[in-house]
Amino acid sequence: MTILVTGAAGFIGSNFVLNWLHSEGEDVVSLDNLTYAGNLDNLSSLLKNTRHFFVKGDIGDSELVSSVLKKYKPRVILNFAAESHVDRSISEPGTFIQTNILGTYKLLQNTLLYWESLVGKQKKDFRFVHISTDEVYGDLDIKAPPFTEENRYIPNSPYSASKAASDHLVRAWHQTYKLPVITTNCSNNYGPFQFPEKLIPLCIINAINDKPLPLYGDGEQIRDWLYVDDHCDAIRLVIKNGLVGETYNIGGNTERTNIQVVELVCKLLDELKPRLNNDSYVKQISFVKDRKGHDRRYAVDSSKIQKELGWKPEETFESGMTKTIKWYLSHDAWIKNIISGDYKKWADKHYS
Ligand code: NAD
Ligand code: DAU
Repeated sequence: MTILVTGAAGFIGSNFVLNWLHSEGEDVVSLDNLTYAGNLDNLSSLLKNTRHFFVKGDIGDSELVSSVLKKYKPRVILNFAAESHVDRSISEPGTFIQTNILGTYKLLQNTLLYWESLVGKQKKDFRFVHISTDEVYGDLDIKAPPFTEENRYIPNSPYSASKAASDHLVRAWHQTYKLPVITTNCSNNYGPFQFPEKLIPLCIINAINDKPLPLYGDGEQIRDWLYVDDHCDAIRLVIKNGLVGETYNIGGNTERTNIQVVELVCKLLDELKPRLNNDSYVKQISFVKDRKGHDRRYAVDSSKIQKELGWKPEETFESGMTKTIKWYLSHDAWIKNIISGDYKKWADKHYS
């Protein structure tokens, strides 16, 4: 048996593939077109693993996707592939429409043809699991309860609007064609292999390179943080026991302001890699121009997945962040490889 993971060379996709191969007996086919965010280094530990197959390709390439489906006959398709960075969606929305909406549409069409060709148990057991975000629910009032699966979709950025559109397509392919889909909406992930355009890896890498730690606006925006392996465990449970047609919110029950997050990064770095002059890294925090249309708060109510599938996160924010910072401190070559090339161009332009 095999599962197909799209976007497998990105941050969460690669963590998921490693998590799956470690915990489950089924093989994995990874499909990724290796955009700037896709990095084969993330999967380098699998080079000799005979249970892992990598295919370079676009989820929107129907010919390629249909040949992959015919060849590997996956029992599950997990769709992580997306453009994922809100700031880039503000300056370059086109690629988000292309991949997140049109790409998902093409993938759904191919999946439907494939699923309709299956028979018996293979057809009955097949699942299409779509990985989405809490950002589709929009900006949460400071006094409002966390997002449940019943919240309205009110996306505010080109990124969240494109993810919301993809979620709607996935739902429609179930309602209309009976494709067995499940969607998950998760909060902010952090952990190994995250591309340093995102807040936490950006701050870790900038801190140790003596660069500013940029906080947008007043830094009081709130996000709910979840260690990436906890997200991967939740997705494995969704594959096993999730109900077709359902959506599951996944979050860490860890609301923090961005200032609190960056201060924790600094505190842990002060302990694990003190600056030569013993000053705290906090001194490198710098307030910069705010993100356009910046959502103030997200918070996720995970009680449905906790009650129905028995999931709960293993890591606290402090334990997960300690693991994360230790990982970045011990992966110099990975960092060096990433901060050249496209990343440098983006950082120079975005923070200039
Ligand atoms: P990422 O940007 O690190 O990785 C995305 C991966 O998708 C990359 O490897 C990229 O090469 C690949 N990709 C992009 N376009 C593709 C295409 N057309 N065909 C094939 N592959 C393509 O993103 P991530 O942070 O790992 O997020 C993965 C998924 O999880 C996304 O769908 C995102 O919306 C969702 N999500 C992310 C978070 C988070 O905090 N990072 C939280 C909730 C949900
Ligand atoms: O909520 C889930 C989402 O979390 C995912 O769907 C997205 O794919 C993922 O990128 C993430 O989106 P955010 O915009 O919340 O993540 P980011 O790391 O870009 O920013 C986190 C917060 O930190 C946000 O309020 C913006 C702020 N920020 C970010 C950067 C890069 C800064 O203050 N300074 C920065 O330099």
